[in-house]
Amino acid sequence: MKISTLVTAACVAFQGTAAAVVSGKPSTFIRDYDKRDLLQDVVTWDEHSLFIHGKRAMIFSGEVHPWRLPVPSLWLDLFEKIKALGYNTVSFYVDWNLLEGKQGEFRADGVFAYEPFFEAATKAGIWLIARPGPYINAEVAAGGLPGWLQRIKGMIRTNADDYMEATELYVASIGAIIAKAQITNGGPVILYQPENEYSGGIPPAVFPDAPYFQRVIDQVRKAGIVVPLINNDAWSGGHNAPGTGLGEVDIYAHDNYPIGFDCSDPTVWPANGLRTDQYSTRVEISPNTPYTIPEFQGGAFSPWGGWPIDKCAELVNQEAERVLYKNNYAAGISIMNLYMTYGGLNWGNLGHYGGFSTYDYGAAIKADRTITREKYSEAKLQAQFLKASPDYLTAVPTNLSTTLYTDNVNLAVTPVIGSEAPSSFYIVRHNIYNSTETTTYRLNIATSAGKLTVPRLGGKLTLNGRDSKVHVTDYNVGGTTLLYSTAEVFTWKKFDSGKVLILYGGPEELHEASIVSTAKPTIIEGKGVTTKSIDGNVVLQWKTSASRSIVKIGDLSVYILDRNSAYNYWVPDLADGSAVIVKAGYLVRTAATKGNTLQLTGDFNATTPFEVIGAPKSAKKLTINGQPVAIETSKSTGSWHGLVKYQRPFINIPDLERLQWKSTDALPEIQTSYADSAWPSADKKTSTNTYRNLTTPTSLYSSDYGFHYGYLIYRGHFVATGQETTITIYTQGRNAYGTSAWLNGVDLGSNAGDAIVGDTNTTYTLGKLSKGKKYVLTMLMDNMGYDGNWVIGSDSMKNPNGILHYEFAGRKQSDITWKLTGNLGGEDYVDKTRGPLNEGGLFPERQGWHQQKPPTNGWKASKPTTGISKAGVAFYTAELDLHIPKGWDVPLSFTFKKTKSNEKFRAQLYVNGYQFGKYINNIGPQVDFSVPQGILNYQGSNTVALTLWAQQPSGAKLEGLSLTAGTPVLTALENVELVPMPKYAKRAGAY
Ligand SMILES: *[C@@H]1O[C@H](CO)[C@@H](O)[C@H](O)[C@H]1NC(C)=O
Ligand SMILES: *[C@@H]1O[C@H](CO)[C@@H](O)[C@H](O)[C@H]1NC(C)=O
Repeated sequence: MKISTLVTAACVAFQGTAAAVVSGKPSTFIRDYDKRDLLQDVVTWDEHSLFIHGKRAMIFSGEVHPWRLPVPSLWLDLFEKIKALGYNTVSFYVDWNLLEGKQGEFRADGVFAYEPFFEAATKAGIWLIARPGPYINAEVAAGGLPGWLQRIKGMIRTNADDYMEATELYVASIGAIIAKAQITNGGPVILYQPENEYSGGIPPAVFPDAPYFQRVIDQVRKAGIVVPLINNDAWSGGHNAPGTGLGEVDIYAHDNYPIGFDCSDPTVWPANGLRTDQYSTRVEISPNTPYTIPEFQGGAFSPWGGWPIDKCAELVNQEAERVLYKNNYAAGISIMNLYMTYGGLNWGNLGHYGGFSTYDYGAAIKADRTITREKYSEAKLQAQFLKASPDYLTAVPTNLSTTLYTDNVNLAVTPVIGSEAPSSFYIVRHNIYNSTETTTYRLNIATSAGKLTVPRLGGKLTLNGRDSKVHVTDYNVGGTTLLYSTAEVFTWKKFDSGKVLILYGGPEELHEASIVSTAKPTIIEGKGVTTKSIDGNVVLQWKTSASRSIVKIGDLSVYILDRNSAYNYWVPDLADGSAVIVKAGYLVRTAATKGNTLQLTGDFNATTPFEVIGAPKSAKKLTINGQPVAIETSKSTGSWHGLVKYQRPFINIPDLERLQWKSTDALPEIQTSYADSAWPSADKKTSTNTYRNLTTPTSLYSSDYGFHYGYLIYRGHFVATGQETTITIYTQGRNAYGTSAWLNGVDLGSNAGDAIVGDTNTTYTLGKLSKGKKYVLTMLMDNMGYDGNWVIGSDSMKNPNGILHYEFAGRKQSDITWKLTGNLGGEDYVDKTRGPLNEGGLFPERQGWHQQKPPTNGWKASKPTTGISKAGVAFYTAELDLHIPKGWDVPLSFTFKKTKSNEKFRAQLYVNGYQFGKYINNIGPQVDFSVPQGILNYQGSNTVALTLWAQQPSGAKLEGLSLTAGTPVLTALENVELVPMPKYAKRAGAY
C-alpha cells in the first residue's frame, strides 16, 4: 500500500472519531518525513507518544517471560498484579530455543503455547510488546538460539543465507501466532521488536548491516506483523533509527541499565550512572518518535558464586526507582518497559551459564509471585501518577539546572513544560545522583499565576537522600487546577460525589499545595494542615505524618498521606473507564459493578480494614472475592469502610527428610560390565563448527551429535599396551560446570568447578595398565549451556561444549574410540511436553525416571541426606503429598542446607518431571528453589526426584532438604490448573 492512500483514508477516519482523541491530535500519522508504508491505523505515534485507537497513551510496561513461569493458569495472576500497579503493558521475549529443539519442527503447545498468555493479557486489560528475537540474549542459554545452529556455516545474526533460512520457520510460525493477537485483530499486541540489541559487531561481520536488518524486518512483515516495529539499541547509538534508510524500525528505542549488575554492595550506585542527555540525544537520533526505553533497569541478575538475589532487589530498590525512573520522566519518556517486573525461574536448563536456577532479578514481583518488596509499591505510586496525568504526554523537557529552580546547588531540577496543556512537571533530585544527604530547598516555578517561590507559607522543602520528586504545576484535577504541589500526586478521580485528589510525601517532610479556588477549605479529617487563601487560591501546608488528613475545597477532597500509607491505596478500573479508589492491604486486583453491587477482588496477607472511596452511586452493596462484605458509610467522606478477616490457615508442610525415599545408582556407566552399544558413536571425522577447528581424530563436540543441554557422558574405549601413562583432557562446560572421570570403575578424580571457570585441562594419571586389556574411560560432565551471541561477528554461540581436545601420553589419539550421550534422543528429544531442554544425559534421565511413578521396585530405601560414600551419582525419588487449602496462595520452595565445609557435590531437583533447580554446594549461592503451584499439585501427590553427584572420593550427602512455605495469602486467584505432566513410561530405545 502506498502511504498517500492510507493517510487520506486515515485522516477521514480520524475526523470521524475526533471525540475519541483525548488530548493532542494524531496529525503526525501523516509521516511525510518517512516514506515507508503504514500498515494499520490503530497504533500511531508522534514525537510525544503513541496513540492507540487515536488516543494518546503512556506505555508503562513490565517485562515478563511466560516461559519462566511455565504454568499458563498463573499468567493472569501476573497480569493482574501488574495492572494493579497502574501499568498498562507487558513486554515479553520468546525463547526460540524452547520451540524448535529440532530444526524444522516448531512446537508451541502446552506450557509453551502463547494463546493463553494473550488471553490472560486481554482479560486483565494489558497490552503487549512482542519481542521474539530470533536472538534475545535474556540471560538464557545461547541467547535463545537453538543448539543446532552450532552446525551452520554462516555467521549468526548476519545476512548469511543459511542463518537467515534457519530462522525462517521460527519467525514465520511465531510471527503468525503473534500476528493473530495484534490489536488490529482485537488482540493485545501493540508493538513488535525484531532482533535484539543489534548494537555491536566486529569483523569479519559487516556491522551494522542494513540489508540484514531489512531482511529481518521483511520476514516479520511477511509473517503478518502490521503493528509498529521498535528496536532496542543497547545504548543510544542510533542504530536502525527511522530515517536511516534500509533496515530502519518505526520507533527508535534504546535500553538502559544505569546502576549495573554488581549487587555485592547494594548501597553503592556507580559513578556517572545517571544520564542527563537522554532527551537531547533522542531528539537528535529520532525527532519524530516517542522516547522509548524497551528495557530499563528493574533489577539485576546474579551469577554462579554470586550474591543471594535479594541483594539485587536491594540494589535496584524503591529509592533507585525514584531516582532513576523519574530521571526518565525528566527526559519525557512515554514508552517505558521495566526489565524485569516479574523475572521468574530458570527451570529445565533454559538459563545461561552466567546464572543459576532463578531469574528473580530482584524485580518488583518476586519469582514466587509475591509482592512484598517495597519497590512494588513505589512503582505503583509512579505508574498511577502517570496514568492520572495525560498532560505529561505532551509536556516537553527543558534543560536541567542546578541554579535556576532552587536555592540549593546540590539539587538538579529538570522542568518538563506543558506544551498542548498547561501542566508542567518539575523533577528534582540530587545533582550527585547517589547522594545520601538530606537537602533543604525552596523551589522556583512558573505558574499561570506567575513566578512563585514555594513554599509560600514559610519553611523549606526537603529531599531526603536518594530520592527524586515530581512537583507539578497547573495540574488538571478534573477541571480544578492544582496551581502547584510539592507533595507528589498519587492519583485523582472525578466521582459522582465529587473529586478526590491523593497527595503523598516522605516521612516528616514539609509540603505545600495550592488549589485554584475561592471556596472555603474545610478540614474533614486529621489535624496539622494549615490553610490560607491567597489570590484566589487555597494554600495548604503540612508536615507529613502517618495519620491522614482530608481537606475539602468545593467539590474537591484532598487526601494527604505519607508515602507508606499511600502504598495501601489501589485504583482498580471499572469497565466504563471510571475507577474506584480502594485502601486495603496486600493487593486489590479488580473492580466491577453488577446491578447494585460493587465487586472487588484482591488478596490479603493479614486482617485488613478497607475503605472504598468513590463507589459508584448505583452501588449499595459490596462483595470481595465474591463474598458479601458488611460496609459502613463514613458520614464525613461518604466512603465505605469494612474489614476483611484473615485467619492464618494451618498448613501442613511435610518434612522432606521423612518421605519414603527410594534410591538407585545413577551412573551404571562406570561399571566395567556396562554396555554402551546403543549409544551414539562420536565418529564424525569432520565438524561444520566454524568456531573451533577439530584437534581430535573425530569430533567430540556435543553439538555435532545433537546434545546441547544437561549432563553429558563420554566413554572412551581403548586396548592397553601397558605404555600409557596419562590422559590429558580438555573439557568445556562453562561457568560452574564440573566433571568426574573413571577408568574401568576406578575413580580418576573430579573437577568440582568454579564459578567463573568454563573450561579445564585435566591430566589423569592412569597407573599401570594391563597389556591387551580393554579399558573404558567414562567421563561425566555438567553442561551449563552455550554462550550468547551478543557481538555480531564473534559467532560466540557456536563455541562448543564437551571434550574439545585430549592427549594420550604414550599412545596415539586415535587409539581411543568414543561414544557419548546427552539427553535421550538429542534433538529428537523424547519429552515433547516439557520441551527440548528439560532433561540431561544421566541414566535415570534417559529412562525418564525423573517423572511420576518411576519403577522403584527393587530400589533401596535411602534418602539424599544419607547420600553416597564415594564419588558417583545417586538418584532419589519420593512421593510428596500436599494438602494446601484451596483459596490460599502459598509460595513453596525446596531449601537445601549448605554444608559447613563446602563439600563438593551438585544436585538436580525434579518436581513431577520438570527440572526446577541445579544446586551446587561448593559454588552457590542459590539454596532456595521456588517451585510454582501447577507444577506442584497442592492438593494431591507429587513426585520429587533428585540426582546427587558427589565430586569427592568420600562421597556426599545433603546436609538438609526442606520444603519452605511463605506467608499464606488469602487469594482471589482462581483454581490453578496442573500443567501436563506425563508419568513414567518405558521409553523405546532408552539405553
Ligand atoms: C557515589 O558515586 C561516586 C562517584 O560519583 C562513587 O565514588 C561512590 O562510590 C558512590 N557512592 C555510593 C554510596 O554509591
Ligand atoms: C503483607 O504484605 C505487606 C505489603 O506487601 C508486607 O509489607 C508485609 O510484610 C506482608 N506481611 C506478611 C506477614 O507477609
